Amino acid sequence: MTPFTSDDSMPAEENRNDLLILSRVSAAVSGLGDLDAVLKVGLDKTLEYMDGIQGGIMLLQEDSQELKYRVYRGLSEEYVEKMRLEVGEGLAGRVAQTGRAMLVDDISEEPGAARPHLIDMEGLRAFVSVPLRSRERILGVMNCASRIPRHFARRDMLLLHSIGDQLGTAVDSAKMYEKLNRSQRRYWRIARRLIVAQEEERERIARDLHDETSQVLTGLALKLQVLTEMCNMLDIQNERFREVLDEAHASAKQINREVSRVISDLRPTLLSTMGLVPAVREHVESALTPLGIEVTFDLHEIHPPPPPEAEISLFRWVQGAVGNIIKHADANHVHVSLRRNNSELRLQVSDDGRGFNVDDLNLREGDEGQGTGLFIMKERLELVEGGCHISSKPGEGTTATARFPLQ
Ligand SMILES: Nc1ncnc2c1ncn2[C@@H]1O[C@H](COP(=O)(O)OP(=O)(O)OP(=O)(O)O)[C@@H](O)[C@H]1O
Ligand SMILES: [Mg+2]
Repeated sequence: MTPFTSDDSMPAEENRNDLLILSRVSAAVSGLGDLDAVLKVGLDKTLEYMDGIQGGIMLLQEDSQELKYRVYRGLSEEYVEKMRLEVGEGLAGRVAQTGRAMLVDDISEEPGAARPHLIDMEGLRAFVSVPLRSRERILGVMNCASRIPRHFARRDMLLLHSIGDQLGTAVDSAKMYEKLNRSQRRYWRIARRLIVAQEEERERIARDLHDETSQVLTGLALKLQVLTEMCNMLDIQNERFREVLDEAHASAKQINREVSRVISDLRPTLLSTMGLVPAVREHVESALTPLGIEVTFDLHEIHPPPPPEAEISLFRWVQGAVGNIIKHADANHVHVSLRRNNSELRLQVSDDGRGFNVDDLNLREGDEGQGTGLFIMKERLELVEGGCHISSKPGEGTTATARFPLQ
């Protein structure tokens, strides 16, 4: 058995050749984000340069700390399935434990080898095992075997060891990338569920307000109206009494209007009955005109219209943009446009207000409760495959643009 030592010297020609192989394997796996692709390409490229051998890559399982084949070539399924090793068990297990490569001339003669009957069944003789290492951690091992004894030279082991180091780094990045992808997918699932839950909750509150609060308020306004009429009929002259009654009546009507506005913000009925254009127009006008902001439109119907979940996201996005104008812009004029631009829908809300420095938004990212509006607006659209961006400069107004791909 020959463990790896680094003082082996090689002729310059062989050295150059090995460097070339190493750089080719490394180039083949670099940039592959998918773990299986990294392993398959890495193994195939390695075996390509080592004639007549079989092999495989075993990865250390994060939960069980067991070594298990993830990719292999030229080995039987039974061998691969049954050859699971604890760290420290057999040759590969020891490589995973110590991080030192091993070369044996004939593994069938090796007393330390695990599952000798499997090795016999497979007819393996010469055997090299090298660690896959990244950031001082062992992630697995690459095993190469030949059915001819003494097939490998120390030079092969050195080369495989270097390839193992390259593959280790690629495997590590691919694993991190997979983890990132998994948490990204989880995040999207949760975000989507939250948005659906938020819509359902809005719908429920709107229904309660409409069926209960609004009805009671309408009844109250009517009763106050009747009281006023009774005052006239009964010829009640008390000025103060009449004043308070008129005020109460006016208040009831005003609260009712407010509640209706809240209901239509929560549940844009126009959107489901008439579509995006009337709903956007109505919302922008009713929110901005009473504040003395002049509003102009360039709204075009889109045929066929985007799917309902995209329409609601676009509508909520407009609500967010309008909310920001009210809260921050101090604008005199707002222009809203909706049109088809090649294969995408483009919705734009521009104001001539005070504007702001868009770069500052990134600096504030992570601040509790600050500036989440734009973030949520963007996420909502991305969930329906759309997107948005905002352009603004201090003193030059703000333009928010939403996009949605049309089939
Ligand atoms: N139309 C606008 N005019 C001027 N400033 C704006 C406009 N829209 C956004 N901003 C600036 O961008 C910041 C971030 O906006 P965002 O909607 O994310 O957060 P917010 O409105 O401050 O809070 P929230 O929406 O979470 O209640 C705002 O604080 C404001 O400074
Ligand atoms: Mg906001």
